[in-house]
Amino acid sequence: MLPLRLDRASPSPLASQLADGVRRLILDGVLSAGDRMPATRRLAGDLGVSRAVVERGYDQLLAEGWLAARTGAGTWVAEGPGEWEASGATGRRRTPPRTERPLVMMDAGTPWIDPRHQAVWRRAWREVSAATPPRGYDDPRGLAELRHLVAERLGRTRGLRVDADEVRITGGTGAGLRHLLAVLPAGPVAVEDPGYRAAVAVIRAAGRPVRDLPALEPVASLEGCAASYLTPAHQHPLGRVMPAADRLTALAAARAAGVVLVEDDYDSEFRYDVAPVPALTSLDRERVAYLGTASKSILPSLRLGWSVLPDDLLDAYDAHRRLTHDAPPWPVQRAMVTLLRDGYVDSVVRSARQVYAERAPRVVAALEPFAELAGPVAGMYSTWLLPHEGAVRARRAAERAGFRVNLLRDYCRSARLSGLVVGFGGPTDAELDRALAVLVDALAESPGNEGDATAV
Ligand SMILES: Cc1ncc(COP(=O)(O)O)c(C=O)c1O
Repeated sequence: MLPLRLDRASPSPLASQLADGVRRLILDGVLSAGDRMPATRRLAGDLGVSRAVVERGYDQLLAEGWLAARTGAGTWVAEGPGEWEASGATGRRRTPPRTERPLVMMDAGTPWIDPRHQAVWRRAWREVSAATPPRGYDDPRGLAELRHLVAERLGRTRGLRVDADEVRITGGTGAGLRHLLAVLPAGPVAVEDPGYRAAVAVIRAAGRPVRDLPALEPVASLEGCAASYLTPAHQHPLGRVMPAADRLTALAAARAAGVVLVEDDYDSEFRYDVAPVPALTSLDRERVAYLGTASKSILPSLRLGWSVLPDDLLDAYDAHRRLTHDAPPWPVQRAMVTLLRDGYVDSVVRSARQVYAERAPRVVAALEPFAELAGPVAGMYSTWLLPHEGAVRARRAAERAGFRVNLLRDYCRSARLSGLVVGFGGPTDAELDRALAVLVDALAESPGNEGDATAV
């Protein structure tokens, strides 16, 4: 008798349950190619169901190719599916689902969440549900109202005077970069090293080589490149603000080589030592493509951002977006309209800045005895130089205690730097204290962590 069990209380029809059960027996190797299936009358009797149920279940499996049948010869397990078992493809997850507690993210990218968040979201989604969605694919540039609000905010907060017509709404920095790469001439992209790993991955996925630009040195030459990807307001992950002289050098190198600089302006509003540094794009609109994101000021899971591109790229960019229908979902754009229009983004940036301004010195005070700060602390993370072994030990200790901090080495390609990237947006205050205590204990135990061995 086949080991099948049907559940009459289940909302799933009995014939579907029977088909599911037989499929599972084949995938698990209990039934193999060529095995004869019981006659419908017998199986119906064994399972206590009508014969019609078994016939419907068999018909489904015959249609899907799991079973084969011939009049007069009965029904058997078809040849193909038996090979599943031999191939090891069981259709089941090989790795059991993870049941451990998720780690508290103390990386460079997890922001603090404002406590007003839920109420504000409820309002935004209520408005979305009352609005009428566009009938077809919407304007590939993004919702006009949203572009208008973003343009106004970029002028006010980033020194970028742009019209709504010049703003493009994207699915975040990565998506903005992907679309931009689609319309740039062929060639490698020069990226800071250490630098933003997701950008490197997007560039490589677009089939372009990545050229390493030492992160803290002036850009010497961009000859032979299609573009250069930079984080001028807050070098990711070393933290430095690109000095004015280096900005001008980078622009001169871009002009000389006829290439575009891509400015990733990811967390520039979160400065608490000085006023936010104006965007590099404000110095030369025709040479710099600006990428902004809602991931830091609102939520990374929103997957929303904006670009401001040199004029000569706009037509090709829009045509590419129109062709690929690759624009952020309308409901998300519509919700962002509410958040910007009602001042939520401004007020959450103000509150988050205060939270980070209070947390940053706590992190510095705790870790400074053991490591050297790589650059000024801004945004929601700090980067520490220390020998790699100590960094690895501290990261492991943090992980055992339920926290994720990152190794500086993982951001390096040719650069030889080691240390830790410690974010402070993701944890609660109590979690941050616990994590710092764990890191301090681990670093105190590491021999040679006096903060001098940065290049290894
Ligand atoms: C350097 C940098 N740029 C941009 C982003 C945001 O990317 P996205 O807008 O794709 O979420 C992050 C997020 O961690 C980042 O670290």
